[in-house]
Amino acid sequence: MTEKIQLPAPTFNDQLKVSEAIAKRRSIRQYDGHALDLQQIANLCYFSAGITDKQHGFCANPTACNTQHIDLYLANADFCAKYLPAEHALEIIERGDFRAEMAIQPFAKEASVQFAYVVNAATFSKFPGNPDHKAKYGHTDAAIMATNTCLYATSVGMGSVMRGMFEPAIVAKRLQLQPEDEIVLTVSVG
Ligand SMILES: Cc1cc2nc3c(=O)[nH]c(=O)nc-3n(C[C@H](O)[C@H](O)[C@H](O)COP(=O)(O)O)c2cc1C
Repeated sequence: MTEKIQLPAPTFNDQLKVSEAIAKRRSIRQYDGHALDLQQIANLCYFSAGITDKQHGFCANPTACNTQHIDLYLANADFCAKYLPAEHALEIIERGDFRAEMAIQPFAKEASVQFAYVVNAATFSKFPGNPDHKAKYGHTDAAIMATNTCLYATSVGMGSVMRGMFEPAIVAKRLQLQPEDEIVLTVSVG
């Protein structure tokens, strides 16, 4: 049976305004791996990819035609998991510390949490727009979600860095992705 962790409702305790977070955000390349609590993880997930308008089914991250084809995954010291926006829960993929596998650069292996932004091929196959635009929107929409993560992290005093440097095959295996899924980006937070 799938193990799930229900996340606490998000809290709105940002220390910075959006304009300040944009101005202050920098790629941080020094981490001490300290544990983030469940509320911090819940907030990072929600403000990256959560459902912010339940009535109409809209999310924190816009997606082309609202296809919602980007999945958010994370690895902390205890597990790797997939964020389930509809339930605001984590679906545990495997217990254990796999953070180092999600990075190549030594500094990044030391982050508290690694996030991965994945184009879900099955969901994207339902994209109602021009099929020629698929690749463009897959990458665009993943970058938008990753930007949410970094700006939210900055707003609460955490460091972050977007990373194109990861081993796709290793991360895909660890996250048990489908062969057609595409990991566009990773982000380290701490
Ligand atoms: C798509 C993308 C991929 C990146 N990949 C990496 C990476 O693998 N490792 C890294 O240390 N920084 C990475 N960066 C961070 C950039 O080097 C950084 O954003 C740039 O130097 C500007 O610095 P700033 O983020 O502090 O403004 C990446 C940034 C983006 C947008």
